[in-house]
Amino acid sequence: MEKDLKDSILFTPYKLGPVTLRNRTIRSAAFESMGKDFGPTQALKDYHVSVARGGVGMTTLAYASVNRSGVSFNSQLWLRDEIVPALRDITDAVHAEGAAVGIQIGHCGNMTHWSTAGCFPVSASNGFNLYSPTFHRRLRRSELAEMAKDFGRAVITAHESGFDSVEVHAGHGYLISQFLSPWTNRRRDEYGGSLENRMRFMNMCLGEVMEQAARYNMAVLVKHNMEDGFRSGIQIPESIEIAKQIESFGVNGIVLSSGFVSRAPMAVMRGRIPTKTMGYYMPWSQWPQKIVVSLFGQYMIKQYDFEECFFLENAKKFRAELKGPLVYVGGIVSRKGIERVLDEGFEMVQIARALVNDPAFVNKMRDGDISTRSGCDNKDYCIARMYSVDMKCCHNCENLPDVVRKELKLK
Ligand SMILES: Cc1cc2nc3c(=O)[nH]c(=O)nc-3n(C[C@H](O)[C@H](O)[C@H](O)COP(=O)(O)O)c2cc1C
Repeated sequence: MEKDLKDSILFTPYKLGPVTLRNRTIRSAAFESMGKDFGPTQALKDYHVSVARGGVGMTTLAYASVNRSGVSFNSQLWLRDEIVPALRDITDAVHAEGAAVGIQIGHCGNMTHWSTAGCFPVSASNGFNLYSPTFHRRLRRSELAEMAKDFGRAVITAHESGFDSVEVHAGHGYLISQFLSPWTNRRRDEYGGSLENRMRFMNMCLGEVMEQAARYNMAVLVKHNMEDGFRSGIQIPESIEIAKQIESFGVNGIVLSSGFVSRAPMAVMRGRIPTKTMGYYMPWSQWPQKIVVSLFGQYMIKQYDFEECFFLENAKKFRAELKGPLVYVGGIVSRKGIERVLDEGFEMVQIARALVNDPAFVNKMRDGDISTRSGCDNKDYCIARMYSVDMKCCHNCENLPDVVRKELKLK
């Protein structure tokens, strides 16, 4: 029997710590690639205002680096005093549409390049990251406290910019995740080895974040990996222990994700990344990568089949073990899917691609019936494109080049 939507909690308010959301939807942190000189632009503002107008409870500006060494792209944000007025302009405009607004804070660790980060890329251990591609060095013990403090300072800057919430990026192979994962953390000091040691840096960052969040009345979410997506990475039993540790900080929600950008990127989003399209948009200044990705990308990047609510079975294992609020993310494309997730006891849902396809998807669900479905058909053009130009859905673009149309099988 089909659920009576009168029983649905989707369009009921939710108290996320100090902020009340008008419903249970959050626009997931999905890199817009709309920044300039590490600061916001009118395009970034327009996009988030359109998502807010489209009905979400909260929108999230995608990952802003907590310091200079943590930026992966020139078109991303680096949280600093200089950009507070421009960010304030965005948060005011989003609030005027009735939505709350959060910002994802993080550090990319080894997923950058000297020319972008302004220094030799850093990580938990020395090594080479094929993804950038770049060599990277291990962070010295003496540098870790300052790095953790930058997470705390980012909360203050976010508060001054008018954000209601921060989302700490502790998954996907970013710096905190590089410390957590045995694949990237080969340290022999008190930050490596046992799970307790590998969690130490995360604990320091969360300690700083929670201290400033309490002082400035900000909500805190943490994006966490249920699994890294390959054998030598984090698996579910260990990840549940990490989630319990995160919960013990009193965060307002844990966002359950998976995948590792430098090893299993599509484990984050599922689907088949159009690599010819990705290569097409890469600038010729990166010609070796452009050629390699165009010709061999499909063999280098592991592909996954897309399935609606693809993380739900794993996420339920965490629901069974954790008491605090959990945010479901992954493959939300229909009202039916959301109801399934909420019925399993998740407090909120995050949506990325369905809102890239249509910023008004949430209002369409509110005004529609249980059969409401997104127009996103997981061609994953938005992912292929965002590494070089701004994030957009292929269905919203005109005059796409033939190579793209052919690969995406567009008419
Ligand atoms: C274009 C794009 C950019 C993304 N950038 C980020 C990011 O900056 N930080 C992050 O945590 N996740 C990022 N993600 C992952 C999404 O937040 C989300 O976890 C994933 O896409 C699954 O949700 P969906 O099925 O609703 O798209 C990105 C996803 C997409 C499609």
